[in-house]
Amino acid sequence: MTKSKNFLNNLVKTFGFAPSKGGQNEEDLEKIAQQEQKHFPFETLAAATKNFHPSHKLGEGGFGPVFKGKLEDGREIAVKKLSQSSNQGKKEFMNEAKLLARVQHRNVVNLLGYCAHGVEKLLVYEYVLNESLDKLLFKSNRREELDWKRRFDIICGVAKGLLYLHEHSHKCIIHRDIKASNILLDDKWVPKIADFGMARLFPEDQTHVNTRVAGTNGYMAPEYVMHGHLSVKADVFSFGVLVLELISGQRNSSFNANADAQNLLDWAYKLYKKERSMEIMDPTLASSAVTEQVAMCIQMGLLCIQGDPTVRPTMHRVIVILSKKPSHLEEPMRPGVPGSRYRRSRRPAGGGVSSTTAGTSGESNSRYSDTSFTVTGTTSAAAPVQDVRGKRPVES
Ligand SMILES: Nc1ncnc2c1ncn2[C@@H]1O[C@H](COP(=O)(O)OP(=O)(O)OP(=O)(O)O)[C@@H](O)[C@H]1O
Ligand SMILES: [Mg+2]
Repeated sequence: MTKSKNFLNNLVKTFGFAPSKGGQNEEDLEKIAQQEQKHFPFETLAAATKNFHPSHKLGEGGFGPVFKGKLEDGREIAVKKLSQSSNQGKKEFMNEAKLLARVQHRNVVNLLGYCAHGVEKLLVYEYVLNESLDKLLFKSNRREELDWKRRFDIICGVAKGLLYLHEHSHKCIIHRDIKASNILLDDKWVPKIADFGMARLFPEDQTHVNTRVAGTNGYMAPEYVMHGHLSVKADVFSFGVLVLELISGQRNSSFNANADAQNLLDWAYKLYKKERSMEIMDPTLASSAVTEQVAMCIQMGLLCIQGDPTVRPTMHRVIVILSKKPSHLEEPMRPGVPGSRYRRSRRPAGGGVSSTTAGTSGESNSRYSDTSFTVTGTTSAAAPVQDVRGKRPVES
């Protein structure tokens, strides 16, 4: 008997429904059962996206294309068609997706459900109206829509979403790919973190080394790039980069605003040391900026990107900093050198931990130490090459 039939029978038993003539009740209950299990039939998603028509394509990242769709009930959705290179079995995928669909927070994109159909694996998200932050922040003609209040609210919202993923979801989820294109903005400009838990859906395996993608150029913590050490502090680092990008309107990975600085982080730190940190501020913020708040956020961002992960604040501390009136903050140390995007190399048998989530055991405070682990047994020093979309340097 299928799971949904089981669920249906339980409902019938519990509530005493008797399937009536025409099987109408049974059909309704079947629908409820499907909703409960968050499983979408492939046909529903094909119909919602006009057969994954190119005109419905919202974009394409490292895991496959994303299509906009509309369900029969009127709900707008974004369907991520995972590239077939993931070697994860269907059952594992469904288990992971089911777990991730339990993640619910105002600042995290709602994963409505999933679909596994033959070789196809799909994730179904709520459609977020203003799409991703990078499309606004790094386009000169739209940047002005993001005044200081909006940017500050985005910083606070992303911090809350990350705190939830790290400490308050059913499992500690390390995102591993916090960046402007993974922050979506809804109709009220509420930021929502997208693509959490992707590494659970693309687990390391012994035979398909080339399926791995991990982190993005300019956002990755040095200890992760160089040694594969992944902890919640790697997300804190990426969050710090995002904060400095929001304040400056500059993309760290293509920074060229200052000849004396290697990158945005270096520039911000050098100016901070000369007590001129406000010079990194995006000129379009001049009329809306609250100077003290901007200065506090720059300092907080610099604390997050420190080279030593142990001295970076936790997301809990970040929230405390953001919720207080600008007050005395510790002095940031040198920023970590950001690395380039890389793929994990083959994990030796039995070695390393491939998941972005850690176990649920332990008190929330102990999670910080629990979640620091080695991603991979070896990381390659091979020079990165661009992938076909020219977007991600990957190992050959
Ligand atoms: N739920 C959603 N609602 C609205 N737009 C979305 C949604 N999910 C994704 N998008 C859009 O689709 C684009 C592609 O997303 P995708 O996650 O595939 O790429 P990416 O974020 O650039 O790279 P990565 O694979 O590293 O996450 C995003 O930039 C975003 O604009
Ligand atoms: Mg994304």
